[in-house]
Amino acid sequence: MSKEIIVFKSEFKQQPSTVKFTYELKNIKHTGFVVLNDGSYNAYKNQCMHLPVELDWQDNDFLDEEGKFIICATHGAIYNLEEGYCVSGPCQGMKLKAMAVEEVIDRLIIKIEAE
Ligand code: FES
Repeated sequence: MSKEIIVFKSEFKQQPSTVKFTYELKNIKHTGFVVLNDGSYNAYKNQCMHLPVELDWQDNDFLDEEGKFIICATHGAIYNLEEGYCVSGPCQGMKLKAMAVEEVIDRLIIKIEAE
């Protein structure tokens, strides 16, 4: 069974930037985030591919200083924005769990698939 989460485009303050969201599966709370970059939206589960920890230590702080990569706060793995592909770090070659994003006028519909 899948769920849908709504994120409004107006929640993004600049490009690139991220918006974090929460969802529940089987009564367990999870988080995810959407990256806006170059006019494209990509959504990922908020979990590093190295260890089962969230990527952000500070809430919704997912990007490196230059805004070029998603960075894991625990050991510094970096993932590209477009595919969530780990280009450097202990999980190099792995990809963040992506979620489908549908754009509908002023909002994004994020599809959450059961795990
Ligand atoms: S937990 Fe993310 S790089 Fe180690």
